[in-house]
Order: sequence, then C-alpha cells, then structure tokens
Amino acid sequence: MTYDLVIKGGTVATASDTFRSDVGIRDGKIVALGLGLEAPDVIDATGKLVLPGGIEAHCHIAQESSSGGMSSDDYWTGSVSAAFGGNSSFVPFAAQHRGMGVTETLEIYDGRAAPNSVIDYGYHLIISDPTETVLKDELPAAFARGVTSFKVFMTYEKTRIDDRQFLDILTVAKTHGAVTMVHAENHGMIQWMVERLEAGGHTEPRYHAPSHPAIAEAEAIYRATSLARLVDTPLVIVHVSTPEGARIVRDARAEGAKVFGESCPQYFFLTRDDLDRPGMEGAKYMCSPPLRDTATQEVLWKHLQTGTFTLWSSDHAPYRYDETGKLANGPEAPFKSIANGMPGIALRLPLLFSEGVGKGRITLNDFVALSATNAAKLYGMHPTKGTICVGADADIAIWDPDLKKTVTVADQHDNMNYTPFEGMELTGFPVTVLNRGRRIVEGGELKAERGSGRFMARNTADMTGRPGATVPELDPATNFGARIAP
Ligand code: URP
Ligand code: ZN
Ligand code: ZN
Ligand code: ZN
Repeated sequence: MTYDLVIKGGTVATASDTFRSDVGIRDGKIVALGLGLEAPDVIDATGKLVLPGGIEAHCHIAQESSSGGMSSDDYWTGSVSAAFGGNSSFVPFAAQHRGMGVTETLEIYDGRAAPNSVIDYGYHLIISDPTETVLKDELPAAFARGVTSFKVFMTYEKTRIDDRQFLDILTVAKTHGAVTMVHAENHGMIQWMVERLEAGGHTEPRYHAPSHPAIAEAEAIYRATSLARLVDTPLVIVHVSTPEGARIVRDARAEGAKVFGESCPQYFFLTRDDLDRPGMEGAKYMCSPPLRDTATQEVLWKHLQTGTFTLWSSDHAPYRYDETGKLANGPEAPFKSIANGMPGIALRLPLLFSEGVGKGRITLNDFVALSATNAAKLYGMHPTKGTICVGADADIAIWDPDLKKTVTVADQHDNMNYTPFEGMELTGFPVTVLNRGRRIVEGGELKAERGSGRFMARNTADMTGRPGATVPELDPATNFGARIAP
C-alpha cells in the first residue's frame, strides 16, 4: 500500500486506547495504522502524542454580539488561532436575528466563512425568531444542508425566546434528529439584579458577577431540562458554571434524560476576583455566565472527572480591550452595556492537557474524548471526525507533552490585544496540526491557505440513542403523543 504521508514513531491515543503506531494517510484520509509504514513524506513523531485534531464546538466567530458589536475575530483569525491551539475543525454559531430568515442567515455566514477559514467548519444555528416559516420550512431546510444543531437563549433582550417557543423548537429538533443547545440563565432574575445594582450606583465591571447569580443559572437549567424531557429530545446545556447547575445536569442524565453538559476553561482557571481590577480592566473578564470562585472550580473538576460534562469548549467570544470591543460604549460604560465574552480558542486544549492530564486529574483518553470525540459524536461528525481510525479524515494534532510555555497574547494568533490567561505556565502543546492530511500548522508557522477549510455537512447525533426519558408520564408515545406530534 502506498501513502502520501506517514506519521512515524508516535504514540496514538483515542478516547478509549493508547498505542504505538504509525499513521498512513492517503487522499486526506487515514488508511492504515501499524508499524513500519513508509512514504516519501514522513512526519517524525518520536516522543510525541498523535491525537485526533481538536473540534472546537462553542465559539463566536464573525458574529454580532447581543449588545450589537462584531466579535473581534473573523473566520481568518479565528480559524488560525484555533489551528495553533490544536484544532482541525470548529463549529461556530450562525446567529439569526429577529426579522431575519434562517436561509438568509446561513448565506451570510457562508460568505464570512468560506473565503477565510483554514480549518473545516460548520455552524450551530442560533434561533431568536422562531416564526411559523422558520419552524415549518427553514429549520428543516437548514437541517437538510447539514446544519444539525440549533441554539437558543433564555436571556439577552435581543435573542431570548420564551418557554413556549423553546418547546416548538425542541419539537422540530426531535422530528429531524437535531440537537438543541441552550444558554440557560433566568432573564428576570438578571434584569432585577441589574436594576437594583444600577439604582445603588454599582455600575463597575465587578458588579457583572452578582448580577448573574448562581440561582439564575440553576433555575434556567432545571427549566430547560424539564422542557427537553417533556418533548424527549436531546439538549446540551452550554457553559455550565455552577455546582448547582452541574448537579441538575448530572441528575437529569442519571434519570435517563438526553441532557448533555458543557463547561469551559474560564470557569476552571479564573474567578470573579479577576473582575475586580482598577478602572475598566475588569471588563476583560466579563462573560456570561460570569466567573465564580475557587470552591466552584473544585466542584467543576469533580464533574468533569465523573462525566457530567460531555463537552469542553472555549466559548471564545473575543472583544478587544479598546473602542472596537469592550470599550465601545466609552471608558465609563456601565457593566450592562459592555460586550460579554472572552477569548481562549487557542488555549482550550493546552489548559486541559497541562492542568488535567499533566496533573493527573483526567486521563489522556478522557482528554481526547473532551477535545474531539464527544463533540464529533454529539454534533454528527463521527467517525469522519473526532477519532483516529482507518477511514477517518486525517485530522490530527501531534502534541509534545513536555513542551513548556508561558501564555502570552502574542502566542494566541488571534486578533485580540489581551488573553485572560496571560502568564500561566503550561506544559504540553500541539506542534503539528493536520486537517484532511494537509499540514495547517507546523514548526510554529501557519501552513494553510486562507479559505482552504471546508464546510462540514453534519449528520444526526450518534450519542443520543441510549434509553430516553424514563419518567413514564412524560413518554410522548403514550400520554402526550397527540400533542407533541409534529
Ligand atoms: O459571555 C459570553 N459567553 N458571550 C458570548 C455569548 C454567549 O453567551 O454565548
Ligand atoms: Zn451563551
Ligand atoms: Zn457565552
Ligand atoms: Zn457562547
């Protein structure tokens, strides 16, 4: 057998196994695993780990924020940063705004992504205006073209939907086999807190944290999981930030609901004390849900170790610390009018590798599951993406487990002028990254051409087939079938 490229001498790890093997690649696919493979083009991976390329499943790229401004990374800088962080593909959001159609939305994002992305990409469709046309025609059309995941918001004035609309969207998702994602925070509680804080003259960035209390997340997660159980359809709770919220996700899963949890590095490595900096500096650390405390971090690690969280995503939502981003509404803007979100697409995996695998908190195989395999399965890309097996795309990240670096903003290769993780000392970084057999990062340099990433038409999830809601009174096939049928 002949190969275009062989990765030689490395240790391959998947979500289940770790073994010494060369990897033979032809026409962008993995076609052989074994020892002694030869090719004219060889990557020496001696002493290195050969892992599935990361799949970043939650990031905001070339997307208008809920406060109106454009994210600071487009599909060029965003995909380059992702690639340097060990990712071979990503699934940013395509955001439907009220008054816009879904088909129109996807066309706009195609125009943003196709000429620019250096890695393969898909979109999760954010739905903020579920009109009859959207529900009946446009969501099925989006699904048919491979946009097989929808996201909704329970808060943010411009994007939030009510419970009734949420149920309608879940029902369409169920009909087609789409996965729904939710930003779960109680809108009324946040509004009420913001009004009280503002009335007291508390408008600095540090007050962002108390304005989004933990109980607001817990209430909304419980409500969202309840709605998903009523319809009996898969639901991902994105960016879970509290022990209260994580417990609800875990219990729902244990009771058989098709509920999945996601968490993000910022909730594991930063705290609300980071918001409490002089002047407006705290704005750099504003995201929603907000940063919590060190006790929360310990509990979240336990949930990551025991399977509450299926997904580990960056929630890269980049807004520069200048008048184009965080300071767009002036140097004295109240926290409510500052764009929410922080960057981190290049650090999602190095942070988890160094502090998770390196410090013995999770196994290398858990790392692979959280970096790629679970997202591939849940969002309909597996087994083409997310694992190393014969027949899969040659999406591979070669890691040097001993490489030490201090985090700097310059090393992020994004369009940002800060990183919230500046100065952290990490061990273990990706050194060579492939997408469909193409070198996209090698020797510290970008090798891929702008626009060389491809759209991924995704399938239905292959992770949601286990028994569904076990609460008999919620079984649509018996009691509520007539009401829930599409
Ligand atoms: O603060 C965040 N995470 N901003 C991005 C938008 C969202 O909530 O997903
Ligand atoms: Zn969100
Ligand atoms: Zn967010
Ligand atoms: Zn987000």
